[in-house]
Amino acid sequence: MPRDSLTITDNRTGQTYEIPVEHNTIRAFDLRRIKTDPEDFGLMAYDPAFTNTAACKSRITYIDGDKGILRYRGYPIEQLAEQSTYLETAYLLVKGELPKPSHLKAFDQNIRHHTIIHENIKKFIDGFHYDAHPMGILVGTVGALSTFYTDAKRIFDPESRRIQTHRLIAKMPTLAAFAYRHSIGMPYAYPDNDLSYTGNFLNMLFKMTELRYKPNPALERAIDVLFILHADHEQNCSTSAMRGVGSSQGDPYSAIAAATAALYGPLHGGANEAVIRMLMEIGSKDKVAGYIERVKAGEIRLMGFGHRIYKNYDPRAKICRQIASEVFEVTGPNPLLDIAIELERIALADDYFISHKLYPNVDFYSGIIYQAMGFPMDMFPVLFAIPRTSGWLAQWIEMLQDDDQKIARPRQIYLGPDERDYVPVSERPE
Ligand code: CMC
Repeated sequence: MPRDSLTITDNRTGQTYEIPVEHNTIRAFDLRRIKTDPEDFGLMAYDPAFTNTAACKSRITYIDGDKGILRYRGYPIEQLAEQSTYLETAYLLVKGELPKPSHLKAFDQNIRHHTIIHENIKKFIDGFHYDAHPMGILVGTVGALSTFYTDAKRIFDPESRRIQTHRLIAKMPTLAAFAYRHSIGMPYAYPDNDLSYTGNFLNMLFKMTELRYKPNPALERAIDVLFILHADHEQNCSTSAMRGVGSSQGDPYSAIAAATAALYGPLHGGANEAVIRMLMEIGSKDKVAGYIERVKAGEIRLMGFGHRIYKNYDPRAKICRQIASEVFEVTGPNPLLDIAIELERIALADDYFISHKLYPNVDFYSGIIYQAMGFPMDMFPVLFAIPRTSGWLAQWIEMLQDDDQKIARPRQIYLGPDERDYVPVSERPE
């Protein structure tokens, strides 16, 4: 009997099956051989929320949640955050290797070339209410881009994929910034392609009447590092949406709209906004202990804490904490930081959080930084969606090239009524 296999005895029939084990995993489909009789459908695995189901093989992002390790294409996140730029990291994710200098230059130029959006997209944005959430605007407008780039349907053409990848990475900051300017009633600021990716983003957000916007280099770098930290995180909710929608072979703009929508929720990309609301609700350091008691009583959740995968300190949260102090040197301190540090101190020493392995995640400090930089809370999930676009695209391209993949289609366990006859409404009792 090969060592890399699993022997299963079905106690219903007494039959024994041998199932191959590869990469520490069995193929769920092998369970279908396990039947009580030839008519039986066969065994399935029940795994709501996919807590223990691998939906793909991937070579993009590695996480060891117990040890707090995150790597993109093998490179530790700490090294990328310190030495790389967001655009170089995006290249790494999408193409698989760090670029040669000439390739990085060409990639950078390609992205700059695509930052402008069609004037008609501006009209869509104009149509949204003045108080529309920018994430809602982003979902709508990025999806609408598919109607402008009909060549995007050619998803199996590498050249088309390359161009859509450049367009999406380039245009997400423009859509995001225009959504923001719309929400505050300011005229749109057009891209300045002489600036860096993040410098130009700051320009489109914050340019006033000056002829040329000059981004603060420290803030420009801080946003760039935050973008690196958020670029990919393997098979999370929004990436699964990207792969799931992409598996029906639609265009990448529609799939990115779905992924952005998945990111919108408070348990995913909306958590950093929820952290700020929580810190404001707590109000002062002396109220932290009381708040923790409410969390332990199950009344509320501590936002920015806990993670499906990390059962240790999220390595991104550590880097965020460092960035926070660098940003505050420029912007002045955010008073919420003291409350956050106190919350972390008390929580990390508390049995409830220790036994549940709950540590700060990336969202715990990122919102505090964004707020100090002058971003309104509504923009926080948008600031997550922009860099995650490169990760979504990398995962989408990988999926399209993977022969194991088909249209995503989970099974269900049907527990509803058995067959019954229709009764006309006139014959149904009141
Ligand atoms: N505060 C208090 N208790 C918690 C928390 C929390 N933030 N997170 C999990 N728990 C408890 C939960 O009550 C449960 O306890 P018990 O077993 O006694 O019933 C246990 O820990 C397991 O919780 P779970 O909901 O089964 O864990 P999950 O893996 O499904 O949830 C999570 C992961 C991130 C949704 C969750 O930890 C959470 O809601 N955190 C707050 C929201 C947040 O910060 N989200 C950002 C995630 S990082 C950014 C991203 O990747 O999107």
